[in-house]
Amino acid sequence: MKTMLNVALPKGRLGEKVYDMFERAGFPCPSIHENNRKLIFENEAAGVRYFWVKPSDVAIYVERGAADIGVAGKDILLEYAPDVYELLDLDIGKCRMAVAAPRDFRDNPQKTLKVATKFTNIAQTYYSSKGRDIDIIHLNGSIEIAPILGLSDVIVDIVETGTTLRENNLEVFETIVPISARLIANKSSFMFKSVQIEKLVREIGGAR
Ligand code: PRP
Repeated sequence: MKTMLNVALPKGRLGEKVYDMFERAGFPCPSIHENNRKLIFENEAAGVRYFWVKPSDVAIYVERGAADIGVAGKDILLEYAPDVYELLDLDIGKCRMAVAAPRDFRDNPQKTLKVATKFTNIAQTYYSSKGRDIDIIHLNGSIEIAPILGLSDVIVDIVETGTTLRENNLEVFETIVPISARLIANKSSFMFKSVQIEKLVREIGGAR
């Protein structure tokens, strides 16, 4: 029986692009285009099985070996530091992690800075490196509202086009790190399925 490569794809627009890259790299699975709500698709002849998972969960599937490889944003890798190999920067899903605040915000270094974010580890590491005292407020979404309502002074969040910030009268104060989608692999799969994984890395890496 053929060894199957199990791939966790981030559900959504980025995932569609990633699938196209994998297809071009020799891992097609045409049934994935069926218009249904299935989450698992496989092509035994091509030796590949795809799972659609929540983008922020991809690294969990890969770390625990439920998927051999997957594609996750650098934001998730920095925030949760999963024990996986990062094989390739796919150069898609590009955005940045940034500090944003209302236009009239002026930082007062004498005061503890209130920071609202989904990415508490990234924010904590960033401000510790600057020796800045902060009070972290962990939110799960709609982060942009926090400084408007006085819940926080600034936010640490993902900025892609900048539209969300603009429409909420916020602007970028500092860029923390550029973000893009990365190909990741489970550490033991990387050894046991090295033939398929290396082929994929070669094909995708070479095509860019
Ligand atoms: C992110 C981020 C911003 C938005 C920025 O949210 O939290 O709200 O994208 O994009 P823009 O600069 O192009 O406006 P995302 O859509 O990833 O979903 P989320 O609210 O679940 O974080």
